[in-house]
Amino acid sequence: MTSPPPPPPPPPPSIAIILCSTRTPRICPQIAAFVTSTISTLTPSLTTPTSPPHPPYTLHTLDLLAHPLPFFDEPLLPSQITHPSSYTHSHTRAWSQEVSRHAAYVFVTPQYNWGYPAVVKNAIDFLYHEWRGKAGMIVSYGGHGGGRAAGQLREVLGGVRMRVAETMPALTFPSKDAMLLASKGEELPLSGEEAIWRDERAVIGKAFEELLALVAEG
Ligand SMILES: Cc1cc2nc3c(=O)[nH]c(=O)nc-3n(C[C@H](O)[C@H](O)[C@H](O)COP(=O)(O)O)c2cc1C
Repeated sequence: MTSPPPPPPPPPPSIAIILCSTRTPRICPQIAAFVTSTISTLTPSLTTPTSPPHPPYTLHTLDLLAHPLPFFDEPLLPSQITHPSSYTHSHTRAWSQEVSRHAAYVFVTPQYNWGYPAVVKNAIDFLYHEWRGKAGMIVSYGGHGGGRAAGQLREVLGGVRMRVAETMPALTFPSKDAMLLASKGEELPLSGEEAIWRDERAVIGKAFEELLALVAEG
């Protein structure tokens, strides 16, 4: 008698690259693509799910623009919710389902007036258990790299008990012209001979290694 075949391996955990700007126009999708391609180049097996052996993780883009939420409007504290069916609103249940899919998150955030965009705080506040214990990494950008936004976001992620990578890459627009292009959502030179932020790729890789270690720790 032959024994039954072993069950298929579980799908690899998902890491979401969160686009933290929702304005129009915006530079965030270009910067998120740069971060994604940097991570993929440094760890190519992560983004080719069909290549053997099974990759340990898959990368997904999570655009807050595709998950519009009103200002926080749930009657119960998110930390009191033990099952998504207890959320009052369908938009919260949909957001809960999306966030729950992922094991870790890379926040790609601009700096607005020394902080991170309000839409990000609102999206975080809607949930609690979906974030709790998960791993996070923050990449900021701005005229001076957006470090203030990153620091504030790190603190808030601690509030929902996320474990955040120590290294927080900060991408500085190299000139006023680049900042102007960014603010209009026009193409930045992020690849090729004249590419900006070539030196920052290593620090993005370092932060991602830390994120992977946090995921592995569970
Ligand atoms: C409301 C607002 C506030 C801003 N405040 C800052 C700031 O404090 N520091 C900074 O370096 N850039 C600041 N900027 C410039 C942004 O870095 C730049 O516009 C960038 O393109 C914003 O990212 P996004 O296009 O993905 O939204 C601000 C932009 C906006 C729209």
